[in-house]
Amino acid sequence: NYYAVLMAGGVGSRFWPVSTTEFPKQFHDMLGAGQTLIQKTYERLSQIVPEENILILTNERYKDIVADQLPKVSEKNILLEPAMRNTAPCILYASLKIRKENPDALMIVAPSDHWIEDEDAFGKDLEQCFAFAEMHDSLITLGIRPTFPNTGYGYIEFDKSDSDDMKRVKQFREKPDYETAKAFLESGNFVWNAGIFIWSVSSVLEAFEKFQPAMKALFETGNSYYNTPEEQKFIDENYAKAEGISIDYALMEPARNVFVLPASFDWNDLGTWGSLHDKLPKDDSNNAVVNAKVILENATNNIIRSDAKKLIVIDGLDDYIIVDRNDILLIFPKHKEQEIKRITGLANSMD
Ligand code: GDD
Ligand code: MG
Repeated sequence: NYYAVLMAGGVGSRFWPVSTTEFPKQFHDMLGAGQTLIQKTYERLSQIVPEENILILTNERYKDIVADQLPKVSEKNILLEPAMRNTAPCILYASLKIRKENPDALMIVAPSDHWIEDEDAFGKDLEQCFAFAEMHDSLITLGIRPTFPNTGYGYIEFDKSDSDDMKRVKQFREKPDYETAKAFLESGNFVWNAGIFIWSVSSVLEAFEKFQPAMKALFETGNSYYNTPEEQKFIDENYAKAEGISIDYALMEPARNVFVLPASFDWNDLGTWGSLHDKLPKDDSNNAVVNAKVILENATNNIIRSDAKKLIVIDGLDDYIIVDRNDILLIFPKHKEQEIKRITGLANSMD
């Protein structure tokens, strides 16, 4: 009964200029692990979910990259979106397809670009979530103990006195501003949303019915085409009509049947240069250097990556991101890393 939906259609704009619209970060080996992030994620999921039940959702422009990086995956398991509409539409589309095949399905929805080392712990947490989702009408997420007021995450408030592993969620807040994130952190009963969701196909479709009725109606008109040769035509003609909204805003914030299992594994979403810095090997001054040839003096806490052959000399610089890639050189303070997303947009409009 287990199904997985692997989301691999994002553009990873905070990792510009390595991650680009043409070749986003999930298709890169960001950690020098010998595998790209999507390959790692696929492997992790296939320990738990039968491979024929793993669906990969991506934009049609990444079709060849996915096929190339995951050659074992059959073509019918790669679902192609003709437009970028964030995560809610693709999850709804996949859920309807899965329901048609198996109305009793239990699903995990996972991003394709995270770092998780302890696969056993991940597997155990997942089993626990699946068991809960089978018994209760619930939308389950995995919670991560927060360490700083990161404004790029969802925050989940739970009841501190709840002694069960699986905790009822009082409030889900996607990407709060800095002051709010700080207050959440200080109050102590918040965890970060890992962005990994577990639910039964019936619970998630009920939630779409309640909170996204127009989107649900749109995709339901395709019911008779799903899992048939006409499916892609229906999707090509209708997908772009859906509102672009993430699952966090669309369902997790308004729903009242949200539960969180504090994760028992170490997690890093590799969402920004700073989070990558945490995971890379560093020198005595806490600089992480990838590929680059460098001379560093009086420099601490930097991340430096260069695909160019030139020698880089740095003196008197702390807490910076320096990335040299093709015709782009980025020199950016680490504390403003969330803004790289905006800069990417600016740079693209200059082309
Ligand atoms: N198929 C598909 N289509 N996938 C997409 C699309 C799309 O249009 N947009 C994004 N994705 C994929 C991304 O590739 C990524 O794997 C995943 O969906 C999540 O999207 P992000 O854009 O990375 O979301 P986020 O990091 O801003 O926020 C989410 O993750 C955080 C943890 O990393 C939220 O769920 C937060 O609440 C959470 O804390
Ligand atoms: Mg992310």
